[in-house]
Parts: sequence; C-alpha cells; structure tokens
Amino acid sequence: MPITCHLVGADGATQTVTARPGESLMQAAMGANATGIEADCGGLLTCATCHVYVREPFASQLPPPEADERAMLEFTASPCQPNSRLSCQIVLAEALEGLTVDLPASQH
Ligand code: FES
Repeated sequence: MPITCHLVGADGATQTVTARPGESLMQAAMGANATGIEADCGGLLTCATCHVYVREPFASQLPPPEADERAMLEFTASPCQPNSRLSCQIVLAEALEGLTVDLPASQH
C-alpha cells in the first residue's frame, strides 16, 4: 500500500507525496518533485539539506536518530529542534500513513 505524506512549507502550503514502504521520505519527496527538501548529498548523510520537523504523533513513532544523523543535525541551516530529523533517514512504513512534517524556512 502506498503511504501518503504531507510536507507543510514555511508559508503554510502543503505538498502531498505518495511513497512506497521502505522508501525514505527524502526519496519520496524527490520522486514527486516536491520543493523544500534539497538533499544535496542524495541520502549519504553528509549534507543536512533534507532537514524536516516531524509532527506528532509521528515524531514519537520514529526510531531515535543514530549517531551519524545526530551529528549532521548540528549543521542544519534552520534551527535544530527536538523534532528535527533528516528526511533521508526516515524510512516509510504503513504505520506512518499520514506522516506530516514541517519544512524549514531554508535548507542552505
Ligand atoms: Fe544529505 Fe539527507 S540527503 S543528509
């Protein structure tokens, strides 16, 4: 079953993308030509330009970030918050149907 995810821009505009289970949120956003996620490194955890703020209840459902992701979260262009994640590390599953994230004002 495809998973529907919502990307809410800093201006409040929402982009809805559909993902396959096992795909990352970043891949789903890129595949849909969504704006607001740059993903300069293509998911290699070296850019932090795929930063998103994950809304509840989803933020609590995600596995906590690994050390590599935590380290890269220190390099986000917009302020890092407790619900900040790198979308290339969010692996989508059917339990995340309706996943909603806020996009930062800037990725650079
Ligand atoms: Fe570069 Fe996520 S795409 S860290």
